[in-house]
Amino acid sequence: MLYAWNYFQNQLQLIMTSRAFYLLAALVFLLPNGVIALSSPHPEHPRPQFFREKWLNLKIAEKLVSLASTRANFVPGAIWPDNQGVHINAHGGGIIHTNGRYYWFGEYKTGGPEGNTAMVGVSCYSSENLYEWKNEGIVLSVSDDTTSVIRKGCVIERPKVIFNKATGKFIMWFHHELFGQGYCAAMSGIAVADAVNLLGRDFSRGQMARDMTLFVDGDGKAYHIYSSEENSTTQISLLTDDYLSYTGKYVRAFVGRYMEAPALFKHKGKYYFMGSDCTGWAPNAARSAVASSIWGPWKELGNPCRGTAEENEKTFWSQSTYILPVEGKRNAFIFMADRWNPDNPIEGRYIWLAVQFDPAGKPFIRWMDQWNLEESFN
Ligand code: GAL
Repeated sequence: MLYAWNYFQNQLQLIMTSRAFYLLAALVFLLPNGVIALSSPHPEHPRPQFFREKWLNLKIAEKLVSLASTRANFVPGAIWPDNQGVHINAHGGGIIHTNGRYYWFGEYKTGGPEGNTAMVGVSCYSSENLYEWKNEGIVLSVSDDTTSVIRKGCVIERPKVIFNKATGKFIMWFHHELFGQGYCAAMSGIAVADAVNLLGRDFSRGQMARDMTLFVDGDGKAYHIYSSEENSTTQISLLTDDYLSYTGKYVRAFVGRYMEAPALFKHKGKYYFMGSDCTGWAPNAARSAVASSIWGPWKELGNPCRGTAEENEKTFWSQSTYILPVEGKRNAFIFMADRWNPDNPIEGRYIWLAVQFDPAGKPFIRWMDQWNLEESFN
């Protein structure tokens, strides 16, 4: 019954967030003024009084058209339909921009508690504008072979993809846990592809690493940022030039601070970090920090959320996954986070919010029911 109600709500939300719905509704109000109005109505079947109020009809139609145009909005926490009308399934993800398109890679979740493990793999969606997403399918599949290191039911979390200009390869790193071993293995998986469709994969053991992200600096150097040392310390490791393994150079940041969900971005020459506390799937208060060099020293800036006490305490009921620099816009960053649903992971929602900066240059995040790039970033 609950599922039926959820389904109904989701379908309704889907319709209400589609442009077509508003445009069709606008037509309903325009037709009596236009096409239908040209033919004189049958005297015995006059149009209802309401539709004869041309001025009112035009006003309503105008409002509906403007509502249709505002559909190009991010609606944090809503159902986000892809090009097939299905809620996007790319959790704990990250986005790269290449060849004029954004590619969003994330965990493909399934229903029920088993969906917290990798039953399918890593999905990919592409978009020109960040609002409309095309399902590109599964780019890294788990294996039915029970001897495979990525056998179905293992853990594949927080996949991030970067492009290596020197080798022309797309490289994916992800948090990997072995089948049936909970979160003990704390490994990193690395997958390599010539095109955005991944063709092959390769694994490296590396250091203990759980929640993670990747960051490519302006000089092309790439870093793996991950919760290490039983999550107590964040490590930042410089990758080799081909991005496939570690150089061995790394720094221990936020020692003993138990941070997860790391996300990094660079703004006006400074490095900014956003992350979370460690409370599993349950939301907690976000953290942020700044450094002049990626090697530190990192200075904590506190909780970047600016909402009610409750919202701040729970990061708007979400956990960071990535901070996306918007292509073609200066100083425009999107805080991407997940609102997990561990009872039915496929239902997880996406919380994307504009990163704003206070007069002192400190980044913060405010809740927005809906927003768009044009209004939030000039
Ligand atoms: C969260 C982490 C998720 C997932 C989860 C498992 O803290 O950010 O990626 O690992 O724990 O409980």
